[in-house]
Amino acid sequence: MAKVGRPLINAKAQQLTAEILSNKRVGTYNHMVFAVNDLAHHCRPGNFVAISVGGANSSMVLRRAFAIYRASHRSDGVGLLELVVAPHGSGSKWLAAQNPGACVDLIAPLGTAFGIPTEPINALLVGGGYGSAPLFALAEVLKARGCRVHMVLGASVAGKIYAPLEGKRSVNSLTITTEDGSAGVSGRVSDVLPELIKEHEIDVIYSCGPMAMLEAITTISQSHEILHQCSVEESMACGIGVCMTCVLPVAGDDGTIRMTRTCIEGPVMDGNKVLWSRSREVPEGVWGR
Ligand SMILES: Cc1cc2nc3c(=O)[nH]c(=O)nc-3n(C[C@H](O)[C@H](O)[C@H](O)COP(=O)(O)OP(=O)(O)OC[C@H]3O[C@@H](n4cnc5c(N)ncnc54)[C@H](O)[C@@H]3O)c2cc1C
Ligand code: FES
Repeated sequence: MAKVGRPLINAKAQQLTAEILSNKRVGTYNHMVFAVNDLAHHCRPGNFVAISVGGANSSMVLRRAFAIYRASHRSDGVGLLELVVAPHGSGSKWLAAQNPGACVDLIAPLGTAFGIPTEPINALLVGGGYGSAPLFALAEVLKARGCRVHMVLGASVAGKIYAPLEGKRSVNSLTITTEDGSAGVSGRVSDVLPELIKEHEIDVIYSCGPMAMLEAITTISQSHEILHQCSVEESMACGIGVCMTCVLPVAGDDGTIRMTRTCIEGPVMDGNKVLWSRSREVPEGVWGR
């Protein structure tokens, strides 16, 4: 399994003004397409973008982070960046309310990408809510490598499952779970994982979604002794490694626990090494404490 490549993190990041080409409501989300330049070439599944919100005189000084859903190029060479935005707070609502033709200031690609195996393997991709966004492009890359790709999309209600039809097209099997039973299996993604791991002889889990979901998946990946690459969503103030607001306690290969910046060493991290139960504290024994 290829490891997340540290030296290249953020080396290709650019800040630019990007025009919104399209903004469509999909369920409870907005699917947005931005015109970018050649940076689209450098975006990998797992990378994120940091967007300045609120306009020039806004009091919202912090950029907002969004996972890159897809990066591609139009036939005329224009780079395209697609995002899935869940409008809930002031910044995401502002972004989702922008019309095609408007421009935003963004920095991309940021953070680590999902590690891609060099051999064909059996992969299970698990997305919670808009957390499924980076998994579709990942599924394409894995399938191109000859992997068998299974996907689980979960949410509280059916309207919060992003792009179930796309999921069905791009993978070998798709399982949907909703907590209220309005679509697919009634329950949480973690309820169906043990059976799917066994049935499809899964080698690695890739996940993206709420932190509680990632923690629950880690319990399962550890008990089955399989790899778990997860994209974490810790609150990020700067997104570029300066402020230390995004840190999580992570055990290194040498056994030392370090408070690790998830915007630089993540968002894609080895879930089995994150100390989830102590993620809201600086635990005893952490390096430098
Ligand atoms: C890597 C990553 C990928 C993401 N991908 C997506 C995605 O694809 N789609 C999507 O809809 N959302 C995504 N999110 C979540 C999204 O970034 C937040 O929901 C967004 O910040 C909301 O902004 P808001 O103004 O609407 O919300 P608000 O809650 O009003 O404001 C949040 C702002 O406050 C900051 N903040 C809050 N708490 C803290 C804290 N403890 N320390 C420092 N700063 C804090 C946040 O960084 C952010 O700037 C992602 C987040 C991360 C980290
Ligand atoms: S968000 Fe500032 S260091 Fe990570």
